[in-house]
Amino acid sequence: MPKALLLENIHPFAAESLRNHGFEVETMKGALGEDELIEALDGVDVLGVRSKTNVTSKVLAARPGLTAVGCFCIGTNQVDLADAGRRGIAVFNAPYSNTRSVVELVICDIICLMRRIPAHTHHIKHGVWDKSASGSHEVRGKTLGIIGYGNIGSQLSVLAEALGMRVVFYDLEEKLALGNAHRCATLNELLEQSDAVTLHVDGRKSNTGFFGEDQFAHMKPGAIFINLSRGFVADLDALKRHLDDGSVAGAAVDVFPVEPKKAGDPFATPLAEEDNMILTPHIGGSTLEAQEAIGHFVSQRLEDYFEKGSTSLSVNLPQINLGPHTGVARIAHLHENLPGVLARVNHVLGDENINISAQSLATEGELGYVVTDVATMPSQETLDKLAHLNGTIRMRVVR
Ligand code: NAI
Repeated sequence: MPKALLLENIHPFAAESLRNHGFEVETMKGALGEDELIEALDGVDVLGVRSKTNVTSKVLAARPGLTAVGCFCIGTNQVDLADAGRRGIAVFNAPYSNTRSVVELVICDIICLMRRIPAHTHHIKHGVWDKSASGSHEVRGKTLGIIGYGNIGSQLSVLAEALGMRVVFYDLEEKLALGNAHRCATLNELLEQSDAVTLHVDGRKSNTGFFGEDQFAHMKPGAIFINLSRGFVADLDALKRHLDDGSVAGAAVDVFPVEPKKAGDPFATPLAEEDNMILTPHIGGSTLEAQEAIGHFVSQRLEDYFEKGSTSLSVNLPQINLGPHTGVARIAHLHENLPGVLARVNHVLGDENINISAQSLATEGELGYVVTDVATMPSQETLDKLAHLNGTIRMRVVR
């Protein structure tokens, strides 16, 4: 029975799903340090972590029997991906499972800021009845400028249009404009016409300080600003200056340049004094629905890899999307990306007169992956030859 170890309070759906697929599953609430993790991984085939367990090369080297790591979160920085790839350990994550949660919070932020809800709440809390329509707007007919039209930006585009907003977007890459959204050729074109500007760019290094003094200065006077992408992308001092002089009418910030390491840690930001300001502790994607979706998505990737050899959506191995095998068994052969490996695999099988019923190959960077469905089961001697072919990293037989 294959064994899975799930750490860091991963949604129970994952354990249930893996058990239904024949795994013996052990769960733990917390994260583990390097040495504890090495000990806990004794006999484990599949490891599930969230963001706080570091799967270092020391851990991977100590547990060569590990087959796959599931990151039940979006980021994969906690795993040494290149080393895992070199050792033939597949790593999966859940890149889209919290997209909808982020989008719903952005919609909430837009409406709340345009109705000045944080300011109204503040006044009531301080004993002032400030009933007034001044500065309050419907979102209908307003222009939303989306910067970064990826998973989140494009889904936001659809929901914002459903609310009656006009959507413009700017992206470095060519993107399909959904609905009636209009692609802006330049960032300034977007900034000059948007009543709400929202950042959804990814965390590449070159986006550090991407939105600063110049960009705030180009915004339409009285527009609102939202950042739920990464903290280092926007200059919060520049934002504060523009909120203070009234050129930006309100802002929502969910991500900060420096964030505390754990829940309950103290945190302070000068933006807390601002009037029409929504501050949230990086909870854009944090909903119970997203946690369940992540549990579902990653456990399915692990099961597909384990049972079918499918590397679809792996973050470190060449990707092959596979259904159940078509022969009596499937030979999943991960190797160094060298010329001639495929030919040698087929040669070894041909020597034993094994008929191939289906075969797929993918290569990426230093790695190659060939998956062969065989019509008759190869002898142990042939399997040993395949496992020891020059350049072989790992070979698995899926029955
Ligand atoms: P994605 O990778 O699907 O989309 C990012 C898009 O931004 C891409 O289309 C890319 O071409 C574009 N882009 C990158 N740099 C750009 C630039 N300088 N100018 C214009 N376009 C640029 O990413 P996804 O999944 O939509 O996530 C977006 C952001 O949201 C990421 O930074 C992610 O870390 C963050 N995020 C935040 C969460 C939260 O809890 N607040 C939860 C989930 C994601």
